[in-house]
Amino acid sequence: MAGVFRDRLLEGKTAFVTGGGSGIGLAIARRFAEHGAKVILAGRRKEILDNARTEIEAAGGVAGTAALDVRDYAALEGALKRTHDEFGVIDIVLAAAAGNFPAPVLGMSANGFKAVIDIDLLGTFNTMRAAHQFLRKPGASLLAVSAAHATSPVPFQAHVCAAKAGIEILMKTIALEWAPEGIRANCITPGPTADTEGMRRLAPTPELEEEVKSTAPLRRFGTKDELADLALYLCTDAAAYITGATYLCDGGTSLLKGGLRAGEARNRHTKN
Ligand code: COA
Repeated sequence: MAGVFRDRLLEGKTAFVTGGGSGIGLAIARRFAEHGAKVILAGRRKEILDNARTEIEAAGGVAGTAALDVRDYAALEGALKRTHDEFGVIDIVLAAAAGNFPAPVLGMSANGFKAVIDIDLLGTFNTMRAAHQFLRKPGASLLAVSAAHATSPVPFQAHVCAAKAGIEILMKTIALEWAPEGIRANCITPGPTADTEGMRRLAPTPELEEEVKSTAPLRRFGTKDELADLALYLCTDAAAYITGATYLCDGGTSLLKGGLRAGEARNRHTKN
């Protein structure tokens, strides 16, 4: 079994993962499946979801797919209902679907800003709101993927900054409102993570990659496996008293005054 936890920690549980077809969402879904959870992968692209499902099943896991756009509340509610009917009460929900493109405020239309807000923030609201009726109560664990953008402004990323700040306060509000039912809600915040769409956009050349690594306090990228272990931990009973929290898995990059130099590097890249 990959990762640092050896026992099967999620045996018999059901997890619903948006953005589960690729990237961080898939890495976490894969880890959940390795630990015995049935995972339902939701996302826009059917082919990518099918490939991810095949991969998880080939490794001995149980997986299903739901091709949908998280901006569509009715589609999400339908997929969550089918998940509940087929796999049982939902124990874990991860909102990992995200959109991004680099552009200055004056280079993005109102619709461009809205597209990212709708995928990230409204998508997280839709996912959690629609899931509530199908959740294990008490016992469910809800996770959303945030970013350093939630607390530090990043040039060319106004839409993501606004969306991630919204996601963090949304998850804290959900944590407070649903705590009496025994539902926990937390965020995880990746730093520069190897082999992700985010890093391909942030540091698209070997030179930029080196610059990011040399700036990061731990002098390397994080891995999707490390994020998956954090997500796994937050969904186990070991984290039963943790709710309304945002956990960083960023190699200390949030400690840097002015943030990672990747922001500057990316801007140079974008201008050139
Ligand atoms: N610069 C400026 N504006 C852009 C843009 C860019 N690079 N890319 C898209 N937009 C604008 C479009 O012009 C459009 O605005 P308009 O109607 O005023 O012209 C608006 O954004 C919506 O574009 P559309 O392509 O219809 O949106 P979509 O919903 O199909 O795609 C995005 C959403 C734009 C976020 C797209 O980048 C995406 O789907 N990304 C998913 C994958 C991803 O980003 N992963 C990384 C996560 S870190």
